[in-house]
Amino acid sequence: MHNIKIAPSILSADFGHLLDEIKEVERSGADWLHVDVMDGHFVPNITFGAPVLQAVSSHTGLFIDVHLMIENPEQYVADFVKAGAQMITVHAEACTHLHRVIHLIKEHGAKAGVALNPATPASAIREVLEDIDMVLVMTVNPGFGGQSFIPRTVHKICEIRQWANEMGHTALHIEVDGGIAASTARQVVEAGADVLVAGSAVFGAPDRAAAIRSIRDSLV
Ligand code: DX5
Ligand code: ZN
Repeated sequence: MHNIKIAPSILSADFGHLLDEIKEVERSGADWLHVDVMDGHFVPNITFGAPVLQAVSSHTGLFIDVHLMIENPEQYVADFVKAGAQMITVHAEACTHLHRVIHLIKEHGAKAGVALNPATPASAIREVLEDIDMVLVMTVNPGFGGQSFIPRTVHKICEIRQWANEMGHTALHIEVDGGIAASTARQVVEAGADVLVAGSAVFGAPDRAAAIRSIRDSLV
């Protein structure tokens, strides 16, 4: 299983030492940096906005993957791109005009992703699959780190990977987010995921390099 990307989520990092935490996972073999933005409306939790990303993004070489768990995400796309976002993922459930938001993200020069909550069927992204760079299949209900993986979500990964293959969209990333650890990574990769978000499994471990290595080792 080649080219699987590990994306530590800074939601579980020590915000008092955010930049040091980011540099540590970068040294520890992470590929992407997953940035969870929550507004207290779309999800019952609040994190941070573009100014915090701006403060750290230029100090890391990691690919900046921004997961917007917010209502009206179109209002913030420009700010997040300016702050360093390279991928912006919006929730299908938060966008009345999903097609328009996807193209807005691309017009700003970022890659575009669409996230699906556990209760949202894969079919919600079928009509825009050709237009996007990534589908984020949530494997927990968004809002908090440290929740348990929901196995029922895995079939959506297979379904989406099959559609992408059928339409020749071989570059499509499928990211999974929530409860990903050495114990759950293999099944999602076998289903077709290639980007693994890990919050508590990486930042909750005293040795981040060992934590990332154990996820990778679980795949072989
Ligand atoms: C959940 C966030 C996740 C979270 C994952 O709403 O989108 O990115 O940080 O945390 P873990 O890996 O601990 O489930
Ligand atoms: Zn996330």
